[in-house]
Amino acid sequence: MQSFDQKVAFITGAASGIGLALSKALNAKNCKVVMADIDGAALEKEAQALNGGTQMVRTVICDVTRQKQVSAAADKTMEVFGRVDLLFNNAGVGLGGSPGLIPLEDWQWIVDINLMGIVYGIESFVPLMRQHGDGGHIVNTASMAGHATMPGMAPYHATKFAAVGYSETLRQELAPENIGVSVLCPTWIKTNIHKTGANRPTANREGNDTVKSSGADKVFAQVKSLVENGISPDVFAELVLKSVQANRLYVFNDPEARAAIDMRHQQIQADYAACLKDLGLA
Ligand SMILES: NC(=O)c1ccc[n+]([C@@H]2O[C@H](COP(=O)([O-])OP(=O)(O)OC[C@H]3O[C@@H](n4cnc5c(N)ncnc54)[C@H](O)[C@@H]3O)[C@@H](O)[C@H]2O)c1
Repeated sequence: MQSFDQKVAFITGAASGIGLALSKALNAKNCKVVMADIDGAALEKEAQALNGGTQMVRTVICDVTRQKQVSAAADKTMEVFGRVDLLFNNAGVGLGGSPGLIPLEDWQWIVDINLMGIVYGIESFVPLMRQHGDGGHIVNTASMAGHATMPGMAPYHATKFAAVGYSETLRQELAPENIGVSVLCPTWIKTNIHKTGANRPTANREGNDTVKSSGADKVFAQVKSLVENGISPDVFAELVLKSVQANRLYVFNDPEARAAIDMRHQQIQADYAACLKDLGLA
């Protein structure tokens, strides 16, 4: 996709951070935008600031864990703009903690948002892109955490690896229909992601020893300063739009994190070679 002019974009997690920056960047390029988020008050405030009476930006309150709400948001997009060209499955949350201590409710919460939220977006919007036959582009927000791991963040890594693998598959499947797929793999962007742990189901359960000792709060505290010193979401959003125009699969931003991907690949190759040797195949 070369131009965003008069195209229609649907963006989840649009009331803050990367989703908001993408909404602004697309609006500045004359793209019609439907901003979706679970936080209705922030959504309205940000959309009003953007719109300036143009009606190029619309909002829909949508919890991406609810398939019916995502499907209704797709219907609303069709109702107001009549088509969809760009889908940004961006809403996401963080969660860490120690194995054996992370409440299963919290695990379910992050899987529902970071993975099933993307699934519901794809299942609701791909048929609408197919309808007009002009192709389109899908952007799923994963993370560098979908390529390389660190201790204490297992639920986040698990969902982000899933988002990368899902995106890689979708790209192959949708290419014949001229629908591009990109996956965002950033490290630290200055957003509110480090605050999302406060919304996990067990966050405010006083006296719950499992919750207190899971280590989730400690992980959020560590991530806080990295996020606060991260790059501007506006700079990242411009990179994302350039990457859509170039039809790149992966969107990276961090020169230092590259080494972690190399290390992972070296480990894979070393274990692969050792296994083939054990089997007498190499
Ligand atoms: N900020 C970073 O450093 C960073 C790095 C890598 C990946 N990411 C990813 O970027 C994406 C966007 O996060 P961000 O950094 O802009 O954080 P953010 O917290 O600033 O924005 C996330 C938005 O998603 C919304 N949201 C949360 N749950 C939702 C739900 N169930 N339904 C609909 N909306 C919901 C929030 O209300 C918020 O507006 C996430 O997927 C995150 O994992 C962020």
